[in-house]
Amino acid sequence: MTFKEEEFVVLVDKQGKRYLRRLRKGGRFHSHRGYIEHARIIGSPPGSVIASSTGEEFCVFHPTLIDYTMKMPRKSGIIYPKDTGIILVWADLFPGAEVLLGGVGTGALLLAVVRQVGPRGRIVAYDVREDMLECAARNVRNCLGETPNLTLRLGSVYEAIEERGFQRALLDVPEPWKAIDPICEALLPGGIVCAYLPSITQADAFVSALKERGSFTLIETMEVLLRDWHLTGRSVRPSHRMVGHTGFLIFARKINRQF
Ligand SMILES: C[S@@+](CC[C@H](N)C(=O)[O-])C[C@H]1O[C@@H](n2cnc3c(N)ncnc32)[C@H](O)[C@@H]1O
Repeated sequence: MTFKEEEFVVLVDKQGKRYLRRLRKGGRFHSHRGYIEHARIIGSPPGSVIASSTGEEFCVFHPTLIDYTMKMPRKSGIIYPKDTGIILVWADLFPGAEVLLGGVGTGALLLAVVRQVGPRGRIVAYDVREDMLECAARNVRNCLGETPNLTLRLGSVYEAIEERGFQRALLDVPEPWKAIDPICEALLPGGIVCAYLPSITQADAFVSALKERGSFTLIETMEVLLRDWHLTGRSVRPSHRMVGHTGFLIFARKINRQF
């Protein structure tokens, strides 16, 4: 499959720096390492190595979800790929899953969820800000095309949620403990709730509220530390820099208590 007009591509220079661009008729990619006419990329296969006007080589690929997420326009802080990866697995997001999401923001987590559950899934995503919903809708459309199984709702997950029957609920809102009752109503027994929280005091408040509610078990709290390594000649060591802190992740499973 060769690159087509209007498609997104990622150009990677020899230092590994990535540039996300949409291929346009008559377009030109510019960087401090020279320019490349889009026409030279359109029609070429993924992985092509193309020299710029100054002779610098760029590899051109279809963007991965990480490329797209890290480069797409932002309106809020986002959930980073290291946390998203764990959320997808720990919250067990499977193809066909029905997912409620609270706190859409830029749509970084939403993108990964929509892609993971696929066309057989259902996603209902709430945000209290219309501009956030518009930004996320644009980002999802640009990356994944039309997604008829995604419903974006303007509203608060702290208030009653009209939809029912979700298998998973994902929260990136400042006070998720206020969402426990509405989530409990909307989530099926056996369903999994996950909250992402930047501060441990928020995480503690959420866990305490889950315990107090008495409708959840298997409550787990974790953070994800990802460290790159530098492997060059005899220099074989961890990278000097890493992302120190993003947020805490809490997972819990809804029970169906019988009296
Ligand atoms: C940090 S952003 C979410 C970022 C998003 N997870 C991402 O990866 O791009 C938090 C969002 O929660 C929204 N929010 C705050 N309170 C809310 C509530 N009660 N219900 C729904 N959304 C809420 C904010 O408007 C904001 O867009």
